[in-house]
Amino acid sequence: MKLWGGRFEKGTDKLVDDFNSSIRFDSRMYKHDILGSIAHANMLGKCGIISTEESTLIQNTLKAILSDIEAGKIEFEIDAEDIHMNIEKILISRIGDTGKKLHTGRSRNDQVALDIRMYLKDEINIIKDMLVNLENTIIKISEDNLDTILPGYTHLQRAQPITFAHHMMAYFEMFKRDIGRLSDCYSRMNVLPLGSGALAGTTYPLDRYMVANELGFNDVTQNSLDGVSDRDFAIELLSCLSILMMHMSRLSEEIILWSSHEFGFVELDDAYSTGSSIMPQKKNPDVAELARGKTGRVYGSLMTMLTVMKSLPLAYNKDMQEDKEAIFDAVDTVKMCLPVFSNMLATMKLRKTNMYKAAQGGFTNATDIADYLVKKGIPFRSAHEIIGKMVLYCIENNKAIDDMSMEEFKGFSEKIEDDVYTEISLEKCVAGRKLPGGPAGETVLKAIENAKMFISSL
Ligand code: ARG
Repeated sequence: MKLWGGRFEKGTDKLVDDFNSSIRFDSRMYKHDILGSIAHANMLGKCGIISTEESTLIQNTLKAILSDIEAGKIEFEIDAEDIHMNIEKILISRIGDTGKKLHTGRSRNDQVALDIRMYLKDEINIIKDMLVNLENTIIKISEDNLDTILPGYTHLQRAQPITFAHHMMAYFEMFKRDIGRLSDCYSRMNVLPLGSGALAGTTYPLDRYMVANELGFNDVTQNSLDGVSDRDFAIELLSCLSILMMHMSRLSEEIILWSSHEFGFVELDDAYSTGSSIMPQKKNPDVAELARGKTGRVYGSLMTMLTVMKSLPLAYNKDMQEDKEAIFDAVDTVKMCLPVFSNMLATMKLRKTNMYKAAQGGFTNATDIADYLVKKGIPFRSAHEIIGKMVLYCIENNKAIDDMSMEEFKGFSEKIEDDVYTEISLEKCVAGRKLPGGPAGETVLKAIENAKMFISSL
């Protein structure tokens, strides 16, 4: 017999039970469901809607059920549909009619809206902690590499010299925004939907604020229709996670490139690489590749939810049960990626000589030589052209700008003097870029200080 079976003359078809049931995937919300029910039962007692004794019995039995679940003593039933009904059914089987009073003034619609919020709030905190861990790894690598020069790229063509610290701190900024987005998402999620009922609230004098307070919510939802049918918070979280994965994927892509023989900028630790079943020489960056690949999966969940919610009329519709697998999978994926990704970074070895050589090779100081001419009174656009010709000459003669003799320099501009050699060194190019946000060692050091302040402010 279903808990809602009163108006039915026969049982549900077995196929429908399987089709309709969400217990396979929503059982993971058991703890939040029970904590929500305990708060609800407590409030029902305090407001005189049920007696104090009944309230206490319900709460204690729910606590016992919670520990039985955690001890692995309980098997959920497919035909009890979902986690909410499974737990209510167990409660009733243990304390009979008193158990039947728990659902007073409540619907599964506001109950599920509550449970997902509670579940996701906890998950957001876990993900934020993992991000902080990643940020600390990035800070450590940056501190060690304030002077490690490598080319910065645009269009994947060598552009201007920067440092590895500066490059890594760019990712610090991205993940910092991710932390901020997750915090924003958390605060919008942090409103209690319980009390919305099925869609139109309830006539019982529930104290919604008491429940909100007990469960750690900042406020209560302001419209009962919206309270039960809003899944913005899930979509918002999926957007945050998609952006976060996009950042991880970009860094993964760089690591994959850098660890190729062609770049040779980094070598991944053996413990964070894999081999080939046929090619004995291979050492593959699977961790980075999987992080990159799993990004698509998280985007998929975002698309799932946007599409599920599109054109749903108010208020609750069963379509919304499809939210869970998408959000759970995205949350699981991100939680699986972050720690292994952080450790891969932390154990990665840098091949600094190769980085330096690459910076020397690609005319990355060409802008600085143009700037050198500007300092000697030549307008920038003319300087650009002169140095462009100089680069062409160097390519034809297979040399770097720094390797040219003074005589060769003079052939391009009379203004060039002996100081050019020191002015265009890679070190000087980097050190000169000390505007806020630039790659100069002292500037990046300041960025690292700010980064540490941000982390300790969390
Ligand atoms: N398992 C359902 C879900 O996840 C709970 C809400 C069901 N409400 C209903 N009226 N059938 O959405």
